[in-house]
Amino acid sequence: MRRPVFAANWKMNNGPSAARAFAAAFAARWTPRDDRTVIFFPPALSVSDVVHALGNRGGLAIGVQNIWTEDKGAFTGENSAPMAKDAGARYVLVGHSERRHVFGETDAETALKCAASVRSGLTPILCVGELLSQREAGETNNVVLKQLRAGLASQSANIVSSMAIAYEPVWAIGTGKTATPQDAAAVHVVIRGALREVAGASAEEIPILYGGSVNGANASALLAAPGVDGLLVGGASLDVESWLTICAG
Ligand code: 13P
Repeated sequence: MRRPVFAANWKMNNGPSAARAFAAAFAARWTPRDDRTVIFFPPALSVSDVVHALGNRGGLAIGVQNIWTEDKGAFTGENSAPMAKDAGARYVLVGHSERRHVFGETDAETALKCAASVRSGLTPILCVGELLSQREAGETNNVVLKQLRAGLASQSANIVSSMAIAYEPVWAIGTGKTATPQDAAAVHVVIRGALREVAGASAEEIPILYGGSVNGANASALLAAPGVDGLLVGGASLDVESWLTICAG
């Protein structure tokens, strides 16, 4: 049985002081529970602050929003998987739509970043999703499968079964337009099928999260959709109350 995953992607919000205050306020109200995993993805500069502010509470984990493909070297401005691990991260978002569409990240880079995460013992959450024009052209499944297969390329079945996937339709991110639970479920089925091809029966262990304009009002319905194992939340994770509501759902 997959445990639901609630992941907060703060994007470029909450520097160290704000992140500390948020994490302390959340931790004060959060009752540790072992039936779900809650992951915070602060900006890299705030990771250590969140790690320390959350302490060792069961079910709470930290991740980074991005890493570079190499472990160290002359890559000004980048952070590596070993550094993220050293700072206390356990997860990495790979191929988020903003990385792909704002920063031009390629499928080949997502594969290298998944590999770099795994090499350092971090769990990659590979993000996939189609643009509105691609959905309207009936290309959703093709786009998602291409991103998925490329990102998982060269990973063993064993490794793939320890990863997580996030389906985030680009048109639903930060727009207030949420995919319906039916839309999400339809794509999650396609993703699960492709994961079975790579990982066989252990594909059932891989959580597939939905993301895109999730909020306190729609989170329960999306999470109840067949095949939706968790939520990756941007804007609504920036408010302690709304994030607590979503994580309690
Ligand atoms: P919003 O929840 O703000 O739409 O962002 C979704 C997202 O990109 C999470 O990674």
